[in-house]
Amino acid sequence: MSTHIAAEPGQIAPRVLLPGDPLRARWIAETFLEDAECYSQVRGMLGFTGTYHGERVSVQGTGMGQPSASIYVNELISEYDVQQLVRVGSCGALSERLAVRDVVIAQAAATDSSMNTIRFQGYHYPAVADFGLLRHAVEAAEKAGAPHLVGTVFSSDSFYHARPELTQKVVEYGVVAVEMEAAEIYTLAARHGRRALGVMTVSDHIITGEETSAREREQTFGDMVTIALDTMLA
Ligand code: ADE
Repeated sequence: MSTHIAAEPGQIAPRVLLPGDPLRARWIAETFLEDAECYSQVRGMLGFTGTYHGERVSVQGTGMGQPSASIYVNELISEYDVQQLVRVGSCGALSERLAVRDVVIAQAAATDSSMNTIRFQGYHYPAVADFGLLRHAVEAAEKAGAPHLVGTVFSSDSFYHARPELTQKVVEYGVVAVEMEAAEIYTLAARHGRRALGVMTVSDHIITGEETSAREREQTFGDMVTIALDTMLA
């Protein structure tokens, strides 16, 4: 057992989906996996393992933000030898090329977080997705007919920004959406030679102000989970 995940060795599959919301983790397990069993409830951050098309897959809630996601990803890699980590979640659109409910496949993640500032001490590290997973996700999205965009996301430490003009600065450099976890997941995967990707659906549009209803979010979240699961098994 690790500090924050109450699973025995072998209870977690080598492929793990990472929603921020632990209740989404339960919903994914109950909706998409067969024979899913809960392996951890520590701090309510639920984790499940089941099968998808006959292959073992786990789904672990990470909480919101990079410090929280970092705890779970560190332990999944170091204590449970997880190989593939695919974040699923929501993001806010920062580009007119996106509409609410579109899928964003995060090729790279810029960040305002101090986590990489402290790690790299003035060097600027590009947090990027695993290319193979990225390619499979694009193929899965095309096959599903799901509107999608491959691009750079902004992994912010803030949901409520004190200086929104700074977010505008990264938009000028091609960032298409904001979320809160991908940069740390990509960085940790790279450090440990693992494969990571983020697949997010647009829940709110920061330019147009458009938002999704709870029902729409559930439907599009489902499309995104299917894309993520098919990506991991490809
Ligand atoms: N996830 C969904 N919408 C978001 C937003 N506006 N900012 C950060 N993370 C998000």
